[in-house]
Amino acid sequence: MRNDIEKILKTETEIQEIIKQLGKQISKDYEGKNPIMICILKGGIVFLSDLMRSISIKVELDFMSLSSYGNSTKSSGVVRIKKDIDADILDRDVIIVEDIVDSGLTLKYLDEYFMQHNPASVKICTLLDKPKAHKIDINIDYVGFEVGNEFVVGYGLDYAQKYRNLPYIGILKKEIYS
Ligand code: IMP
Ligand code: MG
Repeated sequence: MRNDIEKILKTETEIQEIIKQLGKQISKDYEGKNPIMICILKGGIVFLSDLMRSISIKVELDFMSLSSYGNSTKSSGVVRIKKDIDADILDRDVIIVEDIVDSGLTLKYLDEYFMQHNPASVKICTLLDKPKAHKIDINIDYVGFEVGNEFVVGYGLDYAQKYRNLPYIGILKKEIYS
C-alpha cells in the first residue's frame, strides 16, 4: 500500500495535533450546548472517531451517507442521499463532520438540506479543505488543513474504496488512478 503513495502530506502526529486544537475550539464554542455531530460516511469516520474524543462537552452522533465519486477522482456534482440521519434536528445545533471539501457542492447541498429541518444552527468541520477547487462560495467553520488540488488518500479518504486505513494522509501516485 505504501508503494502507491507519492508523498506523505500529513503524518499521524500532525493529524492528532490539529484534531486536539479543533476539539478544544469546538468545546469552547459550544459550551453549555449539546450539539449533534453528523458524520458524512464513509470518509469522515476516522476523523469523527478521533475528533469526538478530543471534545470535552456532551455531544451526540449521527451518520449520513451520500453518493460519491464512484471510482473516479472527479466530483459529478450530483448528490444523492443513500442513508439519511436518524435524529430529529429541529432546534438542534448541528456540526457536519467531513473528511474533505473539494468543489464544495456536497456541503452546499447538505447545508440546504439540513436548513429545511429548522435546526438552531449548522456548522461545518472538515479535516481537509482544497480552497483552490471550490466551485461555489462556501463558509467552512472549522478546517484542519488546507491542501492543494492533488488527490489525497488515507485517514478515511479513499480511492476506489481503498487506502482508507492508512494512518496518515498521502498523495496517491498518478499512475494508480490514470
Ligand atoms: P465535493 O462535493 O467536490 O466538495 O466533494 C467532497 C467529497 O469528495 C469528499 O467528501 C470526498 O469524499 C471526496 N473527495 C474530494 N477530494 C478527494 C480526495 O482528494 N481524495 C479522496 N476523496 C476526495
Ligand atoms: Mg466524503
